[in-house]
Amino acid sequence: MNTIFDFLGQIPWWCWPIAFLLIIAIRDITQKKHTIKHNFPVVGHLRYWIETIGPEFRQYIVANNREELPFNRRQRSWIYASSKRENNFQGFGTDQDVNGAGYIFIKPALLTKRLPKDHPYRENPYVLPAAKVIGLPHNRRKPYRPKQVINISGMSFGSLSARAIESLNKGAAKFGCYHNTGEGGFSPYHNKGGDVVLNIGTAYFGIRDDDGNFVMQKLVDLTKSNPSIRMLELKLSQGAKPGKGGVLPASKITQEIADIRHIPLGKDVISPAAHSAFSNIPEMIDFIESMADATGLPVGIKAAVGKLEMWEELAELMVKTGKGPDFIAIDGGEGGTGAAPPSFADHVSLPWVYAFSSVYKIFKKYNLTHRVTFIGSGKLGLPAQAIMAFSMGVDVINIAREAMISIGCIQAQVCHNNRCPTGIATQNKWLQAGVDPTLKSERFYNYAKTLTKEVLEISIACGYEHPSQFTMDDVDVAMGDNNHTRPLRIAYEYEKVPVAYDGINKLVNCAHLGGGN
Ligand SMILES: Cc1cc2nc3c(=O)[nH]c(=O)nc-3n(C[C@H](O)[C@H](O)[C@H](O)COP(=O)(O)O)c2cc1C
Repeated sequence: MNTIFDFLGQIPWWCWPIAFLLIIAIRDITQKKHTIKHNFPVVGHLRYWIETIGPEFRQYIVANNREELPFNRRQRSWIYASSKRENNFQGFGTDQDVNGAGYIFIKPALLTKRLPKDHPYRENPYVLPAAKVIGLPHNRRKPYRPKQVINISGMSFGSLSARAIESLNKGAAKFGCYHNTGEGGFSPYHNKGGDVVLNIGTAYFGIRDDDGNFVMQKLVDLTKSNPSIRMLELKLSQGAKPGKGGVLPASKITQEIADIRHIPLGKDVISPAAHSAFSNIPEMIDFIESMADATGLPVGIKAAVGKLEMWEELAELMVKTGKGPDFIAIDGGEGGTGAAPPSFADHVSLPWVYAFSSVYKIFKKYNLTHRVTFIGSGKLGLPAQAIMAFSMGVDVINIAREAMISIGCIQAQVCHNNRCPTGIATQNKWLQAGVDPTLKSERFYNYAKTLTKEVLEISIACGYEHPSQFTMDDVDVAMGDNNHTRPLRIAYEYEKVPVAYDGINKLVNCAHLGGGN
């Protein structure tokens, strides 16, 4: 033995790295899987290594402040700073190309609105209830006025970690907004004090039988035993993957997920592309009515937008029957997801502005805008984008990824592989251990408050008390030449129907605020 060590000890140190590189070179040349490594032994590894760390390099070093998508550095920094109550201002003026096509300009009044001394905003500029009561026009037994116009969009437990869901729900409770469950069912982490909207997807998780069929009694029992569920959202599609089903692999199904979703352990579970409870628009309306009758709750639909014929049919039938969804949530094609094929995420369904304007115009034509509450989602969790949405006819905004960013998401864009480094979009126990729901709920709360306050401040600068008062003429969109900006009314060829509004006090004191209890 000693002779071996003596022999090895006599080899000069610099031979070791050379031997190491030689072994790698031989391995590279003899393997057949990677051509680059075979053709350029040893140095070929650099290509794979740089490809792996390239996104981080670009994000932190190379990309400029406004370059990245879905959310650029300035947008993310604003959310981070707001959520930590740090300085979220900007010095020296805008760094945007204000003449670029698509740029939006919000038009302030010559004189800013003066609020009376006893105005509620003076004491609390963070409470901004929705201008419409959802479900009231259809005489639902439990109409609901969201306590805030800013709310949390659907993201399932399973897609997000338990701690992330808990952080958002506790944050929602503090802020007063609702928290949409996403289609993975109602989990204990959605039950931390916030109002809840139950998202019902094609797999009917938590309210299904063993074959995946919808079970009304389970829905009734669930809503009865959990009064925090204020509304039901029938998910027809989402912007990032409309018409695309999914598979939950057996390996990801824990006992807890199986119990929440009412699915078997040890078997892959399919989320079908289409609903099995209805197959056309009249049947969908019947399904909505039956859920509303059985639970008393307002029921709405969530969808991405493409072809318009079925929207037209829905509106026509709503006029004819007096029935139909209490709210319509329009999700933009730029919306997020836990996982989707790039072709779907990039190309299938219209971006939010075209999606929303197309659908709103139909409901305006049928004189239905007073019966339906319009919800918008698709990168609307920033003040100017939110104002644009209100100007176009949105009553309530749902935010998903911006809420994730507020609790620490760094836009690593790995929600689909269970390796989210921030512990938000993963089920990995080690990675989620760093998420502290008490701290993170405070972060969401701070961000949502700041967003609300800025929406309000812009409203006041434009002469309004509530963002529902914005009109299509209050926002211009640049056509790529500063002589050719157009009001939204001309750019999208419709005028928003004014929303009935009788002062903030009426909203704050409404019997249906937050569902009335
Ligand atoms: C991680 C993740 C999971 C999502 N899961 C759901 C879901 O279960 N059901 C649903 O209707 N939408 C889901 N969405 C879509 C969002 O609710 C939202 O409509 C979309 O991301 C647009 O909002 P945003 O731009 O504010 O992110 C998910 C989005 C993300 C990022």
